[in-house]
Amino acid sequence: MCGIVGYIGESQAAPILLEGLAKLEYRGYDSAGIAVYDGSQINMMKSVGRLKVLNELTHDGETLPGTLGIGHTRWATHGSPNDVNAHPHYNSDNTIAVVHNGIIENYMKLRKRLTAHGYTFISETDTEVVAHLLDYYYKGNPIETIIKVMHRVEGSYALGIIFKDHPDEVYAVRKDSPLIVGHTKDGNILASDVPAVLKYTRNVYFIENEEIVRLSKTDMKFYNVDEEELEKEATTIEWDVSAAEKGGYEHYMLKEMYEQPKAVRDTISPADPRIVNNKIEISELNMTDEEICSIHKLYIVACGSAYHAGVTGKYVIEGLARIPVEVDLASEFRYRDPIYEKNSMAIIISQSGETADSLAALRDAKAHGIKVLGIVNVVGSSIAREADSVMYTWAGPEIAVATTKAYSAQLIALYLLAMKFAYTRQQIDDNELQTLIKDLRKLPEQMELLLNNKEKIQHFANRYIASRDVFFIGRGIDYAISLEGSLKLKEISYIHSEAYAAGELKHGTISLIEEGTLVAAVLTQEQLYKKTISNMVEVKSRGAFVLAVTNTGNTEVEKAADYVIYIPQTNKYFANSLAIIPLQLFGYYVSLGKGCDIDKPRNLAKSVTVE
Ligand code: M6R
Repeated sequence: MCGIVGYIGESQAAPILLEGLAKLEYRGYDSAGIAVYDGSQINMMKSVGRLKVLNELTHDGETLPGTLGIGHTRWATHGSPNDVNAHPHYNSDNTIAVVHNGIIENYMKLRKRLTAHGYTFISETDTEVVAHLLDYYYKGNPIETIIKVMHRVEGSYALGIIFKDHPDEVYAVRKDSPLIVGHTKDGNILASDVPAVLKYTRNVYFIENEEIVRLSKTDMKFYNVDEEELEKEATTIEWDVSAAEKGGYEHYMLKEMYEQPKAVRDTISPADPRIVNNKIEISELNMTDEEICSIHKLYIVACGSAYHAGVTGKYVIEGLARIPVEVDLASEFRYRDPIYEKNSMAIIISQSGETADSLAALRDAKAHGIKVLGIVNVVGSSIAREADSVMYTWAGPEIAVATTKAYSAQLIALYLLAMKFAYTRQQIDDNELQTLIKDLRKLPEQMELLLNNKEKIQHFANRYIASRDVFFIGRGIDYAISLEGSLKLKEISYIHSEAYAAGELKHGTISLIEEGTLVAAVLTQEQLYKKTISNMVEVKSRGAFVLAVTNTGNTEVEKAADYVIYIPQTNKYFANSLAIIPLQLFGYYVSLGKGCDIDKPRNLAKSVTVE
């Protein structure tokens, strides 16, 4: 979604802002802008479209001289993507400029009031309300003004603000939308996300909810809503800068798919290893064996691919540990008034750790006294900080909007949990645990084999570039795999695609099958082979072209499939980790063949910080 960068220091601000915004491009945006104070006034340049346009307009920042400024990439929520709605926004006499991530929920009411006070609005955005509200309360003290505005606005925000009257300062404040600040060699930088500052520093300060920061060239000061100064400690970001670069690959998505074996290895064996003396150790859980044995129910809550990982998690945890699991989309869970059972625990899965609905679900569970475990990739993110305990997925920075390596790492975290719970609750014995551990450790190598076979998938994908609809079918875990395979295809190739539990076909969906429609059937669960093969025969006899993804050795499938991709043998609970690789590659190559913007698909954002 939107991105914020701010800078104050000895260097020219505009090139730093533009470069920082470029590092946030992956989050998704449709317009961009920067505002720079030049010693006498705040100048602004904004443009719809890619940052390239803004770079051209400003001659890579040269036409906006000055050593302090703020910048923004906008993902439109209020008002269409155009130059006027792009951020930053000014107050009426251009003495205050503001950039904003999030949503001001009561903006209509505020807009009416401000209009009654004589303010004129030129954009359709909720953000312009903030610029005028700052103006309305401003009596010379920025912190006091910001606090007054905080008391009036409802919703979520991260704001970067400059005041013409305070030419040596940049201000920022947040509520439910991330912000970090850090020192550069000659000043201070502010951003909504780590990649924008990595070039300058690895030591960042996370701004907490309702905290305000004042940056000057040499200093940064933090305040709470009572205007009291706060002491904060820096967090060191361990990411390798190159991890957020393309490293010779054509797209981040391809690079990240190739990083999956490493993500899996690192999630199994991070610095604090999760397999010790052939037992599963998840120290972050902070739970005694008695507490694990007393869990009655688990609620897994997430969005998008993280939800799909959760669907697999349900099958694996219920299958191995025999703990009932409810899995929900966070956007549904938060409003369905869930009945929380005693001795239950919520697991919130999120790559970014900032997804608004997932964060709201976490807060709801906590408010009801439920222990929350976060399975999170971004260290220090909101979900990681607010959960009672956090199990990190060590996938490293994920830039492509379509998740691959973070999803694979989420699966591993869920397998480890399932194994830990199953063994502690004596649902599996030591022999079974050792077999599972052996199979788990083999996964990275098996994933490499599948990735190295990419040409076969590319060849097949090229035949389906012009598809109108593609269906994915499977049963049990294979249904969960289908959900993710279908999402990968549609989100980056814009081809309509649906995943169905194979047994549901006859209840309506089969009428969509026409001559040549591609149906991808996933068959990794031996006990369900026959059932799914029957469904394949049904669609094939109605003209479908059937692609099957199945385990090596299941040659039976060839009778009903037109094209088969075999995956190496693994434990039935881990099959998702392998079967998803050809489906990710399929989505990638279809999208490549169609010439789509693979890493930044239209209308999508990497981290969805508004509901
Ligand atoms: O950061 P999160 O894992 O919470 O994000 C959840 C979804 O927005 C995300 O998985 C989304 O569906 C991706 N585009 C899938 O590739």
